[in-house]
Amino acid sequence: MPVSSTVETLTCFSCGATLDPNALETLCHDCGLPLRVDLRLPVGAPSDVIHTDDFSMWRYAEVLPIPRSEAVTLVEGFTPLIDVDESTWIKDEARNPTGSFKARGMSMAVSAAVALGAERLVAPSAGNAASALSAYGASAGVPVVVAMPEDTPKAFIDECRHYGADVNLVPGTISDAGKWLAANRGPNDFDVSTMKEPYRVEGKKTMGYELFEQFHGDMPDVVVYPTGGGTGLVGMWKAWDEMERMGWIGSDRPRLVSVQTAGCAPIVKAFESGADTTEFWEGAHTTAYGLRVPGPIGGFLCLRAIRETNGTAIAIPEQEMHDKTGELAAMTGVDVCPEGGAVWAAAQRLKASGWIIEGERVVLFNTGTGLKYR
Ligand SMILES: Cc1ncc(COP(=O)(O)O)c(C=O)c1O
Repeated sequence: MPVSSTVETLTCFSCGATLDPNALETLCHDCGLPLRVDLRLPVGAPSDVIHTDDFSMWRYAEVLPIPRSEAVTLVEGFTPLIDVDESTWIKDEARNPTGSFKARGMSMAVSAAVALGAERLVAPSAGNAASALSAYGASAGVPVVVAMPEDTPKAFIDECRHYGADVNLVPGTISDAGKWLAANRGPNDFDVSTMKEPYRVEGKKTMGYELFEQFHGDMPDVVVYPTGGGTGLVGMWKAWDEMERMGWIGSDRPRLVSVQTAGCAPIVKAFESGADTTEFWEGAHTTAYGLRVPGPIGGFLCLRAIRETNGTAIAIPEQEMHDKTGELAAMTGVDVCPEGGAVWAAAQRLKASGWIIEGERVVLFNTGTGLKYR
């Protein structure tokens, strides 16, 4: 079955080479970097394009690469904004199936992979992506193999097994899990690693569309996002570009803040040094497991997204992250994960330094549930 007729081509984000969107593709054949899904965007006002009777990310099906009729869905997305104060909100992604924003990307990636005939799906993960892939694989009836660092909290491991996935634990970080999978996967396995296939970003971009709707067509001033592989940042950046091309918004953008931890901050380091690409972060350590990504293949895209939106990047020390995780949870009742705590710490630092001005509208992303880390 082909992908949606709205898909024009797959285009390399780096060299511009194009590929057939109706083949199972991972990276650019020429330069080995991530592919982007280019769409024929609909003409019309948001109210003509958005399926307002669908309370999931599939309400944006007209700007997604898979039709609603072919969606592998557990009803993901359409997450609420929770008040922190009069100008600060938490976008609570813990409400998604399997408890994280990874559900959006995996719903889309599994839908596309199944439509294009994949027989088995494989991915390395820090935990949340593996849980989501296992659940969506189960929903689609497609076998799943995941590899995770051996110190991944047990709740993630148990959850993947609960959904019937083949779980492999590997010493080291997600980079080592990726190497293990590359060496051990079968010839017909399809790799849905972060930024190594083009459709997960298409699911993540729905967060950008939701913010547009939740702010009634006006956008927040600042979006603070915890960054590992970068699909969230890149997805929202792509969504806003599409919205501008459809005439929904002008050229102003929320300023994107990329948050990492002091123990693994390749994007922050590259941003601060003015580099266009990230360098591998040796000895990566943090218990915000989703942020322990020492060599993000899409790092150069995160840097572009941050700079084009006049954003910034900031690394939070481990203890401060833990303190702020508890503080935000106790203040709001939201199930904050360590990545969400790092975001809250970053927002407070940026307010104290004057980078965020009093009264600016700030969205903090709580990307997952905190329950599985304990
Ligand atoms: C809770 C959480 N937040 C943030 C991230 C980082 O996401 P990305 O790799 O898309 O930057 C992850 C990734 O595993 C995660 O699990």
